[in-house]
Amino acid sequence: MDIGEKVASLAKRRGFIYPGSEIYGGLAGTWDYGPLGTELKRNIKNEFWKSMIQERSDVVGLDAAIIMNPKVWEASGHLESFSDPLVECKRCHHRFRADHGEGKKCPDCGGELTAPKKFNLMVETYLGVIEGEKQKTYLRGEITQGVHVNFKNILSSTRVKIPFGVAQIGKAFRNEITPGGFTFRSREFEQMELQYYVKPDDKESMKQFEYWKKERMDWYVSLGINKKNLRFKEHAKDELAHYAKAAFDIEYNAKGEWKEMEGIHHRGDWDVSRHQKFSGEDMTYFDEETKEKFLPYIIETSGGVDRATLFFLMDAYEEEKVKEGETRAVLRLHPKLAPYKVAVFPLLANKPKLVDVAKRIYDDLKKDMMVAWDERGNIGKRYRTQDEAGTPFCVTVDFDSLGNDDVTVRDRDTMKQDRVKIKELDWYLKEKIGGKSKEGK
Ligand code: GAP
Repeated sequence: MDIGEKVASLAKRRGFIYPGSEIYGGLAGTWDYGPLGTELKRNIKNEFWKSMIQERSDVVGLDAAIIMNPKVWEASGHLESFSDPLVECKRCHHRFRADHGEGKKCPDCGGELTAPKKFNLMVETYLGVIEGEKQKTYLRGEITQGVHVNFKNILSSTRVKIPFGVAQIGKAFRNEITPGGFTFRSREFEQMELQYYVKPDDKESMKQFEYWKKERMDWYVSLGINKKNLRFKEHAKDELAHYAKAAFDIEYNAKGEWKEMEGIHHRGDWDVSRHQKFSGEDMTYFDEETKEKFLPYIIETSGGVDRATLFFLMDAYEEEKVKEGETRAVLRLHPKLAPYKVAVFPLLANKPKLVDVAKRIYDDLKKDMMVAWDERGNIGKRYRTQDEAGTPFCVTVDFDSLGNDDVTVRDRDTMKQDRVKIKELDWYLKEKIGGKSKEGK
C-alpha cells in the first residue's frame, strides 16, 4: 500500500472519511465525513475564518445561497466557458478528461478515443413543483459569485473601504468527468475563498496579488504542512480560467505527485463588469477621498476544504519505529487541527476512585475543548489508538493522582510524559495547543 492508500484506509477505519451512500453502492464523487473527519474539517474552516476575518480589519464574512438566479452563471461566463474537454472510448464507452495526458488510447481497454468535445461542468437542478413550469437552475460551480452579486449590499451595509475583502466558506458542485484520487476531485466539495477588491491599477493589484500568495502559503505552513511539500505553480497563458488575468496554484507534493490545493487568481474586473452588464445595476465604487468612480479589480484566493483536509492528513501521517519489532502509525496533526485535543484515561477501569477523578477532569476539560475518553485495554493500546486519531495529548489518572492531585500528560509526538497538577491542566493544554496563554502572552 502506498501512503495515499494507507491514509484512505485509516480515514475509513477511524471515522475520518467514508464513501458517500456506501450501503447503496456509493455515488461517484461524493464523500461523507465521519466523527473525526468532521472535527478536522471544522477546525480547518475555523482557522481559515480566524486568520481571514477575526484577526483582520479589512475582511468581512458572507454566507450566500447555493442556488442562484441562473442569469448569474450567464454573466459569470460559466455557462459558456466552464468546461473540460471530454473524450470517449469507441469500444468500452468510458469517458475521460482529455487534458490529463491519457494519450490517444483508452486507459481502460486500449480502444480508440473520440476527438475531444467540450463538456460543461455546471450541475443542473430544477425548482418548482409543477411539471412543465419548473425553472432550470444550477448548483453553484464556485462559491465566488455569491460574493460579487452582493458587492453593492456589502458596501451599503458595512463601513468597508477599498482595499477590502469578503471571505466565504461553502459547498460547490461540479459534474466532474472523472472524479477520483479519493476526495481530491469530487462532484460535491467545499471551498474557502477570499474576494479582495482593490483599485483597478496594475501595479497596486499585482502588489496585492503577491501579498495574498504569501499569506495563503504561510497559512498552510503555520498549520503544520511541511514547507518542502508546498510550491507555487504559475498558470501558463493558455491554462488561465476564463476570468483570470494571472493565476498561481499552491501545490502539495502528494508523495511524488504535485497536486493543486488552492488557486490565487487575479480576476481583473471580470466579475463586477459582467454583473453590471447582465443585471443593469451600477457596480462602480465611489472613492470618497479621490472622488473617483471605478470598477474594482479582484484578487481571489480559492482553496478546497476537502483537498486541504486530505493533504493535512497525508502530511501528518507517519509510521514510526518505536522499538525493535514495533511500529506505530501516528497522525502528527497540528494541535489546532487535531479532532480531539486530549484524551483522558483512568489507569484502571475497575477502580472507581480513579474513574471518578478522570471523569471529573473529562467533564471539566470538555467545556473548553474536544476531549476523548477511553478506559479499554492497557494504556499502551490506548496511546496507539489516540496516535492514529492525531490526539496531541493523553492524560492518565493513576494512584499517585489521588494523593498528589496531579496526572501524567503524554505528548503524542515525543511520547514524553509530564506530571501536571490537575488545577493547572486546562491552561497547560491550552498553551500547548496554541493561542493565548494564561499570562496573556
Ligand atoms: N473561484 C475560483 C475557483 O473556483 P478553482 O481553481 O476552479 O477556482 C478552487 O477551484 C479550489 O477548489 C481548487 O484549488 C481545489 O482546492 C478546489 N476544487 C476545485 N474543484 C474541485 C473538485 N472537483 N473536488 C474537490 N475540490 C475541488
